[in-house]
Parts: sequence; structure tokens; C-alpha cells
Amino acid sequence: MTTVLVIGAAGKTGRAVTAALTSRGVDVRAAVRSARRAETAYAVGARSISVVDLETGSGLDEAVAGADAVYHLAPNVHRDEVGIADRVAGAAARAGLSRFVFHSVLHPDDPSMPHHLRKAAAEKVVRTHLPGATVLRPAAYHQNLVDAALAGRITVPYSLDSPFTNVDLADVAEVAATVLTRPGHEGVTYDLAGPEVLSVRDQAHVASDVLGRPVEAVRVEIDEWVAGPGASLTAQARDDLLAMFASYDRGGLVGDSSTLRRLLGHEPRTWAQALEPA
Ligand SMILES: NC(=O)c1ccc[n+]([C@@H]2O[C@H](COP(=O)([O-])OP(=O)(O)OC[C@H]3O[C@@H](n4cnc5c(N)ncnc54)[C@H](OP(=O)(O)O)[C@@H]3O)[C@@H](O)[C@H]2O)c1
Repeated sequence: MTTVLVIGAAGKTGRAVTAALTSRGVDVRAAVRSARRAETAYAVGARSISVVDLETGSGLDEAVAGADAVYHLAPNVHRDEVGIADRVAGAAARAGLSRFVFHSVLHPDDPSMPHHLRKAAAEKVVRTHLPGATVLRPAAYHQNLVDAALAGRITVPYSLDSPFTNVDLADVAEVAATVLTRPGHEGVTYDLAGPEVLSVRDQAHVASDVLGRPVEAVRVEIDEWVAGPGASLTAQARDDLLAMFASYDRGGLVGDSSTLRRLLGHEPRTWAQALEPA
């Protein structure tokens, strides 16, 4: 049986990738920051856990030992994303693993977003250790806004009319499982953008129709966001997100969905489908 080490397995993306792999019968070893997160990983099908510290590299060599492949994702807007990529890909290379998938982001070369540029640098570091690594570049997930839509109010600190081609996290996870378990994806980079161009205002309209109750789209001022959701963040994470909001305000985040459709072999999930009960 194939064993895949999933980094960040207890997080939002890691849980989705773990669930997609285990539904295909893959043995997932979940890399978690603390043993306290083990239950979260076991709940989505992981068979074992490895405690790793991505900031120091502690536990990584033990975690990759005996694995056949690694799925690497970095904690969101982490200041040392490039160092983390170096440590994880370095451990995989030392262990002789050739199958390695890095979870990047759509348009990593966009100079207006420092955390995107760190993803671009991390991609290069990964490929230095492992030239055959596969890179996935997902758009923003539908799931970022699902809870807000279900609660009847989507609030964002950028234009309600900026265009987005959001992607369903389940589709991203399905592609992750495919490239981790099937041949033919070595050394390739894939953009994963969703099938529709929708603004937040459009998303609220669709949500109202699908849910059969009003869903409003509200733009909050940046100061309000800084004093609210942004208040608990580090200055660096807050600045990264403020740069992202400014970029979203100017032009949203849009990509081409044809690669996702081809890799899935079916239509990508729409925003309306993301709102339907599982
Ligand atoms: N959200 C989107 O729309 C989107 C789109 C494209 C790409 N991405 C990228 O996807 C990646 C994952 O995002 P996410 O929202 O799934 O992140 P997340 O939920 O925050 O998950 C990150 C995981 O990493 C773990 N972690 C944090 N620091 C660690 C450390 N020092 N050592 C070991 N583990 C550590 C966290 O552990 P705990 O569970 O203990 O906190 C968490 O389980 C990010 O790089 C993001 O840029 C996101």
C-alpha cells in the first residue's frame, strides 16, 4: 500500500487532502504540529501521525522515513514559507523520495502580494531539491466564504465587484490525490482555478437563490477589518493580508479552469454546489 506523508494534515487543506487520499485506500501519515491534533487527522482517515515542527525541521526525517510520497503545504501567510519548503523538500530528498507535491497558489509571481512571492520562491527551492516535484497552484477556495454565506452575510474588505474564479477545496484535494498516486505528473505545474467568474456580490445572489433566504454582501472598511479579524494576527501576517485585499480590490484573482477540468475528468464544482449540504 502507498504511504503518503501529508504536511499540515490537521489544517483546512490538509484534512481535505487526507480525506481524498484515504477514500482511495492510500495510507496517510499525518504530519501535525502537536500530538493534540492527532484526533483531527484520525477523523479524516489518517492511519498514523508524526509530530513535526516545520519552523525547526524537528521530526521531519523521521516523518518521511518509509513514506512513498509527500504532500507539502505551508501554514497560511507564514513568514518563513521558503525555509519550511527547504526543510521539507530537503528531508524528502535525503530519504530518496521522488514523488513530492507542493501546494502553492494561483499567480505566485504577482509582485503585489508578498505571500505569493514567497510561494514562488518556495516552488524554486522545492525544485532545487526535487526537480520532479509537482506543483499545484489553486485559486481561492469556495470554502473560505461558505460559512459566511450560510450565516446570511458575506463581509470582505475589498470591492464587492472584483472577479474571482474560486475553486472547490474538494476538487483541489481530488487532484492532489490523483497526482500523488498516478504517474505522468512529474515536474509539472498546474493552475487550479474554478469554473465560474463571480464577484462577492454575485456569490451573495447565488447563495440567496440556492439557500432560499437573503444573503447580503457587505464591504467593510480596512480599519474595521484591522480592529476586528486582523487584530489577533502578527504584524507581518496582517500586512500580507492587507496587500492581498488591495490586490483583490484592484483585480480579484482569476485563472483558467481548463487544467482543473482535464485533471478531474468531470466538471469542477460550482459555488452553488459548494453551498449544498454534503
Ligand atoms: N485558503 C485558500 O483559499 C488558499 C488558496 C490557495 C492556497 N492556499 C494555501 O494553502 C496552504 C494551507 O492553508 P490552510 O488554510 O489549509 O492552512 P491551515 O488550516 O492554517 O493549516 C496549516 C496547518 O499547518 C500546521 N502548522 C502551523 N505551524 C506549524 C509548525 N510550525 N509545524 C508544524 N505544523 C504547523 C497547523 O497546525 P495547527 O492545526 O496545530 O494549527 C495547521 O494544521 C497555505 O499555504 C495557503 O497559502 C490557500
